[in-house]
Amino acid sequence: MYTTIITNLENGIFTITINRPDKLNALNKTVIEELSKAIDEVYNNTKIQSAIITGAGTKAFVAGADITEFLTLDVDGGKSLAQKGQELVFTKIENAPKPIIAAVNGFALGGGCELAMACHFRLCSDNAKFGQPEVNLGLIPGYGGTQRLTQLIGKGRAIEMLLSANMIDAPTAMQYGLVNYVVPADELLNKTTSILALINTKAPLAVRACIKAANAVFDETKNGFQTEIDAFGHCFVTEDMREGTSAFLEKRKPVFKGK
Ligand code: COA
Repeated sequence: MYTTIITNLENGIFTITINRPDKLNALNKTVIEELSKAIDEVYNNTKIQSAIITGAGTKAFVAGADITEFLTLDVDGGKSLAQKGQELVFTKIENAPKPIIAAVNGFALGGGCELAMACHFRLCSDNAKFGQPEVNLGLIPGYGGTQRLTQLIGKGRAIEMLLSANMIDAPTAMQYGLVNYVVPADELLNKTTSILALINTKAPLAVRACIKAANAVFDETKNGFQTEIDAFGHCFVTEDMREGTSAFLEKRKPVFKGK
């Protein structure tokens, strides 16, 4: 069904692998369209509890937007590329009702760094490298990089990365708080899967509400504290809240239904 990505659903965890290793998994129009459909699956398929985005091969997560598609664009073409990409993939990942985690297995440059940053959190292999090299091309990030990099690592570090186009290595990404874990390359997917397996045991509607409330911090149209208060209130009419609190009081494990 897909030509540039591979998807696999196992134990509620949906793994999306961008599969253009000979082009370092660069994001061309087809990859963006297929990623968009795969994210729709995450939203709509009730068998999917959480998702991983990773890249094929050992060299790259994603080495950026596909530069071969750039030369024909004008102002409107450039704006449309950025806007459509953000709507179809990046904002959709960020607002997903289920956790979507980046397993960064190599270069995460330009759109690749932006894709990782749109995910709810990130793990990387010890050979990973992150960067926003767009100024080398006379460009700036278009898939949210100026915003999310600044949110995640702070303004000074972000502006230095944006202006210098320098890559940072995995230990530096860890020190900056861009990734939660650095692991040997051959352990990356196992580690990511084990974190999601734990999250998948939690109450799905509460997990969803945590993502929504945390995202509200960065949405100036929302009052994050009010978002939290509203979401907290709504938890009290869920079956899972009754189950979770009863299970605690009865000293047994809860069985959540996402209801
Ligand atoms: N768009 C399109 N093609 C890309 C690409 C991108 N962003 N990044 C890599 N590729 C292609 C290369 O053109 C090359 O294709 P070819 O074999 O047909 O010539 C192939 O992927 C392998 O890349 P190559 O540059 O030969 O590997 P390398 O090990 O010498 O260098 C990088 C690796 C990541 C340093 C280098 O590929 C690079 O700088 N890529 C562009 C990064 C970038 O600017 N991204 C932001 C885009 S907005």
